[in-house]
Amino acid sequence: MVKSERWHDTIPSLAGWLLAGLMVLGLTGCGQKKDTHPGQPVTKREAIFKQILRTLEPMGRMVRGNKDYDAAEFLQYATKLQTLSTQPWPYFTPGSVYSPSRVKNTVWSKPDEFKAAQQKFISAVTTLHTQAATNNMEAIRPAFHAVESSCKSCHQEFRGPPR
Ligand code: HEC
Repeated sequence: MVKSERWHDTIPSLAGWLLAGLMVLGLTGCGQKKDTHPGQPVTKREAIFKQILRTLEPMGRMVRGNKDYDAAEFLQYATKLQTLSTQPWPYFTPGSVYSPSRVKNTVWSKPDEFKAAQQKFISAVTTLHTQAATNNMEAIRPAFHAVESSCKSCHQEFRGPPR
C-alpha cells in the first residue's frame, strides 16, 4: 500500500518533467514554424513529395546496382509511387506561397504547362509500374530514368530557392 502511494506521488512530477521536455523539443525542434494557413497546403504537399522521394530512393539504388534487385520489392515501390503520383497537385491552391515553400509563381501563371508536367510525370510513373511487372531490369532502367527526368524538368520550371 505504501509502495503504491509513493508511486502516485511521483506521477505529477514525472508528468511535469515530460511536459517540460516536450516543450523544449517543440521550441528547438528544427526551428520550423507551425503552418497556420487554412488547410496547411504547403505542409501537406511537402509531406507527399517527401514520401515520393523516399519511395524513389530505394528504387534508384536497385537500378544503379547499389542494392540487390528484388523484383517484388521494386514492384511494391512502383505501386506506391503510382498511388502517390496524383496526390500533391490538389494542394497547389491559389495563394499557397509562403515560407518554407519553394514554389514559383509559374505554377499559377503557366497553369497549362504545370498540368502538362504533372501528366508527363504520372504517365512516366505508370510506364515504370508496367515495366516493373516484367521483372526485367533492362526494361525498367530507362523507365526509371524517364521518371527522374520528369521530376527534374518540373522542378526546373516550377520550383525555386527556399523562401
Ligand atoms: C509537376 C511538377 C513536379 C513534379 C513532376 C515533381 N515535383 Fe517535386 N516539387 C514540385 C514543386 C513545385 C515543389 C515545391 C513545393 C513547395 O515547396 O511548395 C516540389 C517539391 C518537392 C520536394 C520537397 C522538398 C523540396 O526540396 O522542395 C521534394 C522532396 C520533391 N519535390 C521531390 C520530387 C521527386 C522525387 C519527384 C519525382 C519522382 C518530383 N518531386 C516530381 C514540382 C514537381
